[in-house]
Amino acid sequence: MLGIETSCDDTAAAVVRDGNSVLSSVATNQDAFHAKYGGIVPEIASRRHVALLSAVVEDALDRAGVRYAGVDGIAVTRGPGLIGSLVVGVAAAKATAFALRKPLYAVNHLHGHVFAAFLDRAEAPSYPFLVLLVSGGHSQLVAVASPTAMRVLGRTHDDAAGEAYDKTARLLGLPYPGGPELDRLARDGNPRAYAFPRHRPAADSLDLSFSGLKTSVRYFLESEAGRDAKAPDVAASFQAAVVDVLMARVESAFERDRYNAAVLSGGVAANSALQATFRSWGQRRGVPVFIPPPKYCTDNAAMIAASAYHQGEAVRVDPVTLTADPNLPFELSSSPGARL
Ligand code: KG4
Ligand code: ZN
Repeated sequence: MLGIETSCDDTAAAVVRDGNSVLSSVATNQDAFHAKYGGIVPEIASRRHVALLSAVVEDALDRAGVRYAGVDGIAVTRGPGLIGSLVVGVAAAKATAFALRKPLYAVNHLHGHVFAAFLDRAEAPSYPFLVLLVSGGHSQLVAVASPTAMRVLGRTHDDAAGEAYDKTARLLGLPYPGGPELDRLARDGNPRAYAFPRHRPAADSLDLSFSGLKTSVRYFLESEAGRDAKAPDVAASFQAAVVDVLMARVESAFERDRYNAAVLSGGVAANSALQATFRSWGQRRGVPVFIPPPKYCTDNAAMIAASAYHQGEAVRVDPVTLTADPNLPFELSSSPGARL
């Protein structure tokens, strides 16, 4: 399966066999083009995709040792994401599938993050499993009963976890994207130095919120105590609050329902404190834990190819009528796709 992913600012292509074995995965990161603006500029992202995508796809095929004729299907991210970015990948995938007369699969980007847990692993998580999906654009808990039956149990009301990391990193004067920088800084800090607030949802809710935490860090840094505070202590204390909130939701989900495994996915899954806490939680609770390596946690096309393989006919679409959908709904059943 040839996978193509252009939903945000990474131009990515991959070739994956049987939904798990990655023959190649190429992702060109555009960070250098967006860094001076302190965030992603959609028009720049779209133009970079146009400039890069053909070369990225050919590179993925070369590295896999596969020619176009040897590809069995083409998988592309249909949404959610930036419309100007999505249309580049969707147009390329439609044209490729049409020209090669190969099946085309339209994948929900967030389902891709779920199937990242299946890549390059001898053992896959067994159904039903829970996914904590934390990235720059999304923070949610997902119950996965089967490849095509997934349900969002809770989501953030405001910032995504990665966004909270990036904004807090900026307050600390770290360069964009600040998540990994803040992670590094926090290693030298005391996570108990400052008690930043932990969001608690209403009863029965598994929702998340990070805006209160971010504001609290900002007010603290502007205060007298904050001006004397050591940046690593602030970073570690902020990170402890994020990890506490995320793990509290995972624990609540497991108290309510039975799952055979827990998956941590999305760009923030690369966070060292979150990974360590997630693993020790799994050990304590006797739950098998799956955390993809960083290259499959951040946006990539291998996870899109894997999704298409596992979801199969449920996401097969007509290459003539497929359109990108920046607001693609999460539930497969509610997405009125251009199904075949
Ligand atoms: O999944 P991803 O590549 O893109 C989206 O789909 O959003 O996630 C990128 C996000 C950014 O906000 C970045 O700061 C964050 O993941 N991130 C991290 C770490 N590595 C990446 N956040 C905290 N700690 C990290 N080590
Ligand atoms: Zn993503």
